[in-house]
Amino acid sequence: MQRLAPALRQDNVPLDLISLIQAILTASKDISFRVGQGHLNDLLGSTEDENVQGEVQKKLDVISNDMLKEIILESGFVKAISSEEEDHCVAGVEDGKYLVSFDPLDGSSNTDINSLIGTIFSIHEAPKDLAANDNDMFKQAGDKQVCAGYVLYGPSTMLAMTTGNGTHFYVLDKTQGEFLLVERNVQVPADTAEFSVNMSNQRFWQTPMQNYINDLLAGNTGPRGKNFNMRWIAAMVGDIHRVLCRGGIFTYPTDSKDASKPNKLRLMYEANPMAFLLEQAGGLAMTSQGRIMDIQPDSIHQRVEVIMGSKNEVEKCLSYYK
Ligand code: AHG
Ligand code: MN
Ligand code: MN
Ligand code: MN
Repeated sequence: MQRLAPALRQDNVPLDLISLIQAILTASKDISFRVGQGHLNDLLGSTEDENVQGEVQKKLDVISNDMLKEIILESGFVKAISSEEEDHCVAGVEDGKYLVSFDPLDGSSNTDINSLIGTIFSIHEAPKDLAANDNDMFKQAGDKQVCAGYVLYGPSTMLAMTTGNGTHFYVLDKTQGEFLLVERNVQVPADTAEFSVNMSNQRFWQTPMQNYINDLLAGNTGPRGKNFNMRWIAAMVGDIHRVLCRGGIFTYPTDSKDASKPNKLRLMYEANPMAFLLEQAGGLAMTSQGRIMDIQPDSIHQRVEVIMGSKNEVEKCLSYYK
């Protein structure tokens, strides 16, 4: 099996970007080890702090964030990072070529039940004309990403990554400490009979989404003429991994549950990187209003509606909004 660096060189990825990716993965290997220790190292449970999103931080949210931040900033390739767990961007070096946005631990409600979690990251080029501590540097559309990926801390630790030359899967060989290429050019089937949504929010969705999901639930006697299955891992990283592996539609629709927060998932370090991975695998990644990667961000913690996955099913869902 091919090692990560030669696989990236085959895709003509620049050497400094390969080095940055390796720095991110060095941190993720350490996170993989620590989450694997579970109860043994007193790292489960919550802290007493809240992040900028108003969520109580888990101990592992903070530890993962600190590990990624330190290693990425020390790499020397990065002008700034932004993270779910940081109020503002954090400056690196002024001449750093790249910006990294990350969700250090996605699915953190799963930490205490030994269930799926992951790290999501997105890399852009850094603008030269803005200071390293300026959040505005990050206000670039997802289309400008030069790399996106996630590391899934499951029964095996897996990396899904794209640099714009397809989406590839790697598995961490824990005996060697290396990510090895296991699947090149992952393809998401265009059709599916599986959907992924937090059904408990159904009464708060907009009418088109209610109608669409009702038609899926109606099964083979309803307008779709086939039965659908439902899956929800409560970690986007796990749900999107399943979609990349065997197709499906994943959505976190706009809802009216909390008027101050109509959307849950964050554009810069959840929606955009997953959109890049899915599009590179032949899938679609949309809001009800348009393509996710076309959105011009207005803040680093901006939230967006997400409807992504198998192409034909996402298009079907969007047809309910017309
Ligand atoms: P995070 O743990 O990084 O804050 O993200 C959690 C997100 C996402 O991973 C997941 O799909 C969703 O929240 C789960 O939402 P519910 O709590 O509605 O299940
Ligand atoms: Mn969180
Ligand atoms: Mn998350
Ligand atoms: Mn998180």
